[in-house]
Amino acid sequence: MTVPVVRTKRALRTLVAAWRAKGLSVGFVPTMGALHRGHAALVKRSALENGKTIVSVFVNPLQFGPNEDYGRYPRALPADRTLVAAAGADAVYAPSAKEMYPKGFRTYVEVEGLSDLYCGKYRPGHFRGVATVVLKLFNQVRADRAYFGEKDWQQVRILEDMIRDLDMNIRLVRVPIVREADGLALSSRNAYLSPAERRAAPALRAALEAGKMEARRRNSRPETIGASVRLALAGSGLKLQYASVLDGRLLAAAYLGRTRLIDNIRL
Ligand code: PAF
Repeated sequence: MTVPVVRTKRALRTLVAAWRAKGLSVGFVPTMGALHRGHAALVKRSALENGKTIVSVFVNPLQFGPNEDYGRYPRALPADRTLVAAAGADAVYAPSAKEMYPKGFRTYVEVEGLSDLYCGKYRPGHFRGVATVVLKLFNQVRADRAYFGEKDWQQVRILEDMIRDLDMNIRLVRVPIVREADGLALSSRNAYLSPAERRAAPALRAALEAGKMEARRRNSRPETIGASVRLALAGSGLKLQYASVLDGRLLAAAYLGRTRLIDNIRL
């Protein structure tokens, strides 16, 4: 089982217009490919709530820093097509970088404040790249609803602010994190982990749980919560970048070898 792939904005517009002509609502799942069960959950939710569902697969160069993993980010379009077809998608939109950013491109979207904190502090320009491509994708697809995973909590919050601030006519639907049996949040970047790193990786979720215990103590403060996450990671092989509280969620990022993992839990 597979789904058709459209590669250009023009072909996309024709496809979506045909759906609209039949009175069907459109759900959109933006991704960078190398899809897993977490993405399948987004597609399934969209397929439940919309007449048609389209998934974009685009590794967005704008959201990677100069020393990050853009070049080696996993690309697996044939497998992605099969996965999204099984989850109920109707098409994949997989534009080239040239189609997305033609020569002369020079307009960017910046959601101020939150974009510079937490992950943004360590990945300057990352959320500007995310907001810019997501706004472009929204304009290209013109869906009714868009589906995002809560694993990227900060991304979700920034995009919600963008939608509100720019009066965009789309509803963002948050979908809960999908985890492996041992607690590791699913991520395309988990493919980078060596077998030993994979065994160590669930320590991040466990450390967040330790932070949550601390948060429930009577005199806990943001600093003591962060400190308990750091302490819980001692000896695990994970190097904590930050652990911070945002809207009642505890967010963290840590390096395991060269792989950067992020996760969050509700407090
Ligand atoms: O979450 C992702 O996979 C990406 O940041 C997104 C939203 C597809 C934009 O490139």
